[in-house]
Amino acid sequence: MRGAITGIAGESGSGKSTIGRIIPGLETASAGKLGIDGRQFDISRPGRRSGLLGKVQMTIQDPALLLNPRLSIGDTLAESVRFASRQSPGRKQDVLSMIDCLRLARTLLTRYPHQLSSGQKQRVCIARALLAGPQIIIADEPTSALDVSVQAEIVMLLKEIVTEQGISMRFISHDLALVQELCSLIDIFQDGRVEDADPSQFIFGLPQNPYTRSLIEARRRRFTHGRQ
Ligand SMILES: Nc1ncnc2c1ncn2[C@@H]1O[C@H](COP(=O)(O)OP(=O)(O)OP(=O)(O)O)[C@@H](O)[C@H]1O
Ligand SMILES: [Mg+2]
Repeated sequence: MRGAITGIAGESGSGKSTIGRIIPGLETASAGKLGIDGRQFDISRPGRRSGLLGKVQMTIQDPALLLNPRLSIGDTLAESVRFASRQSPGRKQDVLSMIDCLRLARTLLTRYPHQLSSGQKQRVCIARALLAGPQIIIADEPTSALDVSVQAEIVMLLKEIVTEQGISMRFISHDLALVQELCSLIDIFQDGRVEDADPSQFIFGLPQNPYTRSLIEARRRRFTHGRQ
């Protein structure tokens, strides 16, 4: 769905990151098909999905793995901009306004990945993905390395950009409160399967599925304990 954020939630090890990697072709599934923009892709075939190059961008749980240690942050972001303008000439992308939006200091542009905190690296990865002009973004736990105040801002920013630019975002998180806040539709994963899939208001309003109920119940218990 263009301009919408759909969620993938579920316990640790349930396969959320794996499905995130299968979509752009970084991982192969044992069987199945993927439908994007009216096209079907066989996800049991290894390799990049032709026609999707550059249209799908990812942010991953460990952002250090996405950043080239030999490139300064400025060069990394400039590479994304060059890529976007090759894909659609005339497209204007502005590194400075993007890093301002993500509340990153401009002085970081001359630094290298190992000189950044994990929250800063994660935000650089978000900037890198957005600057490449994608149609789809797979955001795997993009905010878990951020503290709560920055997290809220980034989440609002993602929501705004996705709506404005008509991007489809798959938001992967084990944080149910965040998923509820951001996503219109949610898939609940367990043991590599979609155990439950529904619009957010059903998942969080009146969950029918016992596994979904247990996840929501566990969150409620943790929240209540935290207040005592
Ligand atoms: N490269 C790999 N080779 C073999 N097994 C793997 C590999 N990566 C992940 N797994 C296994 O696949 C399962 C799903 O892992 P995945 O990383 O997709 O879980 P997840 O839902 O993203 O968990 P988390 O919330 O902790 O990030 C786990 O049992 C994991 O141990
Ligand atoms: Mg994961």
